[in-house]
Amino acid sequence: MKWFLLFVITLGLGLAQPNSTYNHFRLPTALRPQKYDLRVLTRLENPEELRFSGTVKIVIEALQNTKNITLHSRDLAFNESQITLRQISGEKKTDNCVTSTVVNPTHDFYILNTCEELLAGHVYELRLIFSAELNRQPEGYYRSSYVDPAENETRWISITQFEPASARLAFPCFDEPGYKAPFVIALGYHKNFTGLSNMPVKETKPHEYLADYVWTEFQESLPMSTYLVAYSVNDFSHKVSTLTNGSVFRTWARPNAIDQCDYAAEFGPKVLQYYEQLFGIEFPLSKIDQIAVPDFNAGAMENWGLVTYRETALLYSDAFSSLEDKQHLSNVVAHELAHQWFGNLVTMKWWTDLWLNEGFATYVASLGVESIHPEWRSKQLESLSNLLTIFRKDSLESSHPISRPIEMVSQVFESFDVISYEKGSSVLRMMHLFLGDEAFRSGLKSYLERFAYKNAEQDDLWESLTQAAHKTGALAKNFDIKTIMDSWTLQTGYPVITVTRDYTDRIAKLSQERYLLNTDISRVHRRECWWVPLSYTTQAEKDFNNTAPKAWMECSQTGESLPKTIQDLPDTDQWVIFNNQLSSPYKVNYDAQNWKLLIETLNSEEFQTIHVVNRAQLIDDVLYFAWTGEQDYEIALRVIDYLQRERHLLPWKSALEHLTLLGRIVRPTPNFQSFKRFIKKLITPIYEDLNGINDTYKPIQAQDEILLRTTVATWACNYQVSDCVPQALAYFRSWRSETNPDEKNPVPIDVRSTVYCAAIKHGSDEDWEFLYERYLKSNVASEKLTIIDGLACSREVWLLQRSLEMIFDPKEVIRKHDSAWAFKAVAYNEVGFLLAKKYFMENVNSIYQFYYPLSKTMSRLLPPLYDQVSTRGEYNEFKEFVANSQESLKGMDQAIQQTLEIMLTNVQWRERNYHKFTRAINQLL
Ligand code: BES
Ligand code: ZN
Repeated sequence: MKWFLLFVITLGLGLAQPNSTYNHFRLPTALRPQKYDLRVLTRLENPEELRFSGTVKIVIEALQNTKNITLHSRDLAFNESQITLRQISGEKKTDNCVTSTVVNPTHDFYILNTCEELLAGHVYELRLIFSAELNRQPEGYYRSSYVDPAENETRWISITQFEPASARLAFPCFDEPGYKAPFVIALGYHKNFTGLSNMPVKETKPHEYLADYVWTEFQESLPMSTYLVAYSVNDFSHKVSTLTNGSVFRTWARPNAIDQCDYAAEFGPKVLQYYEQLFGIEFPLSKIDQIAVPDFNAGAMENWGLVTYRETALLYSDAFSSLEDKQHLSNVVAHELAHQWFGNLVTMKWWTDLWLNEGFATYVASLGVESIHPEWRSKQLESLSNLLTIFRKDSLESSHPISRPIEMVSQVFESFDVISYEKGSSVLRMMHLFLGDEAFRSGLKSYLERFAYKNAEQDDLWESLTQAAHKTGALAKNFDIKTIMDSWTLQTGYPVITVTRDYTDRIAKLSQERYLLNTDISRVHRRECWWVPLSYTTQAEKDFNNTAPKAWMECSQTGESLPKTIQDLPDTDQWVIFNNQLSSPYKVNYDAQNWKLLIETLNSEEFQTIHVVNRAQLIDDVLYFAWTGEQDYEIALRVIDYLQRERHLLPWKSALEHLTLLGRIVRPTPNFQSFKRFIKKLITPIYEDLNGINDTYKPIQAQDEILLRTTVATWACNYQVSDCVPQALAYFRSWRSETNPDEKNPVPIDVRSTVYCAAIKHGSDEDWEFLYERYLKSNVASEKLTIIDGLACSREVWLLQRSLEMIFDPKEVIRKHDSAWAFKAVAYNEVGFLLAKKYFMENVNSIYQFYYPLSKTMSRLLPPLYDQVSTRGEYNEFKEFVANSQESLKGMDQAIQQTLEIMLTNVQWRERNYHKFTRAINQLL
């Protein structure tokens, strides 16, 4: 083939013109990759020219006859004169060739028209040569940097982030999760660096002509999807841990942060071995690396054998990280390692079932962390947090089912949301609890074994679980998992169960409907039905530990809810509570008498006889019902008034999440005074009981009490409870008077965020500069975030504006990956909100460019805006802004819809509840 096409960028420049008749976003199914051989040379010496070049040989099997090879590729330049294609199966190997190439930029296709038709049943080898700049945005094969403090010089490294659809930026490939193949990877780089990839090194040898360069070839991988491929060239240090089976587990970080790797190097191997035993399946690779990447868009990524993290999710410092930081990082590590089975070994067929990856990793991580650190009691907290999150997000009309059809690539990105993660995890927990441990685990084991190195969809999971459940007797033969679970994964939303008791007949009648936050939407005639496991207990029994369903709410063949009656309930002087330990994601409303009984118990010495998770449930439910008008605020506030006695984190968490939202709405109104007094009344007893933010007396033993104290401290200082602010200022002053404040910080770690915030809020410009200086000097990523939060507590407009401008400054004093965090910090400040909203609306186009093409990242700026817009005027203004900014909000459709809906529900609250709410508060003062 004598083609004179040279270096053609697949953006549609040069001869490769977009002109395809095939215009579907999925790859055609005529071909399947059997193996990739990928060689990538990375050049990191010249910061002006950070580039890579590569060769990929793909062995391709033809399943149908075809005259073209359609691959994914984006922003790669090809050396088209050197494309080769030959048939490698059959009697004699024959050369084929490529007549022309076509680029389809809409779907990132690179289409090679072949000289001869490729024939079904035959195998071909295609070789392509390509190159590109190391990406400046954190996706594909990209650059990251850190400053070496010894030399005060910037050091560059390279790293990949391919999920969900960015392998195509690094090499041409069949970039869909269903196309699994083994990879042989070789990295070329300067010998002063280290090359890492999914697999252990096979051999390293000198580069054929580049002086001081080497090629490192890695062992052939197991069959895997393209999004799990990873490699990095870096000059990092590492810590080695060894697993009991002899595999090597290494933890990598920039040299100056290597002493922050100890905890992850100990926790990672422990949790990996726990999973081996939990699933009964060994980790199949002989090495695994985890690496802390200075610039990282997500939290972490589960690449098989080379797991990548942002620094806050892997690095831990005894002196600078809080318990919350430690728990966060444990959870992230446990999550990514759970993916080594759920996601890497068994992968979803298509992004529709992303929840099979993310829901599982989320749920299994909570089991992993619980087993390694039972003293944290984090499983309970985690499952409650997940439920609280989905009760909010999934009550929106604009939510979507767990398993959702994908119609374009932007929806793949959007699917990494609370529905796949938190709701996915919650329905898995529900199954675990209604099936019991034996059936659940044996079902999972057979699912993992059956689909190992292959792809699966949710029906495959249902089938394995049904078989296991029938075998162990966990589920009656006339029930199957698919019928039950499809109602949770294919329908949007969750139900509210209304329990109406008849105290004379000692029965309760139950009905269900979808719970919707938006009260403009009618809830009747929606014909939605969920299979709801009904566990319950009574005031006499108090058997909250039994989470097995005593009955089910069922659906008819045509999908209608069947009414349900529960018999043998107590009479009029005893409450009942449904959904023991919130084992399933539904809300429960009761008749007035039952609520009355519950309120009596909560407000008595007996309140602890209600399980702590159910106390959190009652609070969350009743506050929602008050919001949407099914309950009076008098009742709701009487429920939470009992918190004055409560000393457990979970009910507080549940209540404070609501009070945060309500507080943000009433903050700019004349009645905020009453709200403040109410908060003081609730918080004062517990603040004093926990000895405030003073850590010199009564060391706290229980770990979850530390989290409670952190939370209570934040509220206490925000609402000027007791001595919180003066104490905080004293701590800050003593920090300021240290000779070396970067090394010695007298502020107790777990209240640092509270102390910094109070000090900046009530402090001087010099205090701000002092803290900013600490930000610049800090070597610990999580400490930097705490400081960003603190700096944003200023009430000086100019300082807040300075922060806003710094966030989007290309110089990146604040790294781009922390920009949304920093924006949120400013925008949740009552003074900062108006500035931030204005900044966002006036600069939406440049913000779009700042993140482009990662529009999903830009949508992280929205929560502080939607949480604080609550008047019709502001809502209309934002709606108009959206209509006029379509170009700059591209790829954020789902986030924008949710934003508008949440704003609208705030407006509804303000119009309907504002006065009722204040009246109810005043009654309790
Ligand atoms: N697979 C994801 C990483 C990811 C997220 C890739 C979004 C592409 C888009 C990873 O397993 C993950 O879920 N990471 C979480 C952290 C986790 C502990 C919830 C993340 O990045 O937030
Ligand atoms: Zn994940």
